[in-house]
Amino acid sequence: MRGKLVVTLVLLLLAAVGCSTGDDEELADLDGDGDAAVDGDVDADGDAEADLPDGDGDAAEEEGEDDSPPPVECRPEIPLRPLDFAADETFDLGPYLMQPTPTGIVVMWRTIEETDGAVLLGEGDEPERTIEQEGISTIHEIPIDGLEPDTRYGYRVRSGELVSALHHFHTAPEPGQGFRFALWGDNQNGPEVFQTVVAGIAAVQPHILLGVGDHVQTGSEDALWKDQLFGPARALFHEAAFFPAIGNHEQNSQNLYDLYSLPPWSDDPQNESNYSYTYGNTFFLVINVFRIFFPLGDHETELSQWIREQAASPAAQAAAWRIAYAHEPGYSEGWGNGSCTYDGNQPVRGWLLPLLAENRFHAYFAGHTHGYERGVVEGGVVEIISGGGGGGLDAWCLDWPETTVAHYAHHFLNVEVGCDTLRIEATYPDGEVFDWVELASDSWGTLVDEGPAEDLPPPVVNIDSPTLGEQRVRTLAGAAGK
Ligand SMILES: [Fe+2]
Repeated sequence: MRGKLVVTLVLLLLAAVGCSTGDDEELADLDGDGDAAVDGDVDADGDAEADLPDGDGDAAEEEGEDDSPPPVECRPEIPLRPLDFAADETFDLGPYLMQPTPTGIVVMWRTIEETDGAVLLGEGDEPERTIEQEGISTIHEIPIDGLEPDTRYGYRVRSGELVSALHHFHTAPEPGQGFRFALWGDNQNGPEVFQTVVAGIAAVQPHILLGVGDHVQTGSEDALWKDQLFGPARALFHEAAFFPAIGNHEQNSQNLYDLYSLPPWSDDPQNESNYSYTYGNTFFLVINVFRIFFPLGDHETELSQWIREQAASPAAQAAAWRIAYAHEPGYSEGWGNGSCTYDGNQPVRGWLLPLLAENRFHAYFAGHTHGYERGVVEGGVVEIISGGGGGGLDAWCLDWPETTVAHYAHHFLNVEVGCDTLRIEATYPDGEVFDWVELASDSWGTLVDEGPAEDLPPPVVNIDSPTLGEQRVRTLAGAAGK
């Protein structure tokens, strides 16, 4: 059996956010040539999270009204976002980007020794200002605000005497605009393959990156975060921000909470592994399925209540598109070869997907199963498993009527989020598209176009498939999924 771990619904490790932030500004030397820079006006007040609007409508719910900005008219053309795809080895990890909003972003990197840190920032490539962190640390997390929407900035990071190469990021567009994102999962212990996936992703020029978890094989092993995620994705992460979900292999480890910067919504630091955000014309809901995210009988848990509120929130319902993602699918046809013991996550299938349908979510993305599966569930939610980021591949076990296409190959999703249509392309690392689905915003539940490619071969059948009936009964009776 492969190295997948037993899933538990409750992970009890306490976690805390590791961050170091800044409140000082000084003249910057972005291009590293010793020139003085113009005066900056960034207010980084030392509170990373408080600086960053999460766009999820929390405040609106509490106050009973929608405080999100009115959507702008959607431009038909989605602008290209060429990435400078060059790995910069100046620092141990990064620099990498998280939580882009129309007016802010978080810049992070890691150093071997505790040291100071600063972001040197300018619009275009011009140096304008420096935002310094307070104190010293190894993981540097500097929130930047006061930026212009949909604007390209040049940046370097500095710790001690070291200054990174020049990189760039784009702030998010204003609410209502289309964009492009890439999504993958389960790269874990396949860094060589993952590097080819990363190159494929860079080639489609996504504005943001979404991960459905299992980005490292063992979250508690510090070295793997570099060997399996931040190393292979280094060049991509310099220029495109990452919005990850947590997988079972991350193990709810402290490393995850230290290395990711995610928007909090309660005093419980672990609630950062469930979050929501609005990017352009889309509302995203990210769920940690390894906590109790569903009601216990008639009793709402903290998370089930939050998810329910998020799905129905003004921010979600005002968006042109609603997308949820998590590590586990509701329906899975494949599993590890020789072990057909998993057919999906029952609470996702029985509670979450119906809730998403009730709130007219367009898509639910997951990983966990190593390959690609696509179908339509609950009358209109497109469920896609995209767990082909680099880990060893699964094979087909069983037939769910809800699932249309199953293909166990390394791949990523290239998603063009337009004004009226949303097109998802399942793409091999070399750029070839093997399946696709297109949705229209005005006809929820209708596929206006879909694949697969004519020459897509039938899925590899799991050698354990004949015992499936028995295994499936056992799984549905409450046995752990693997
Ligand atoms: Fe997994």
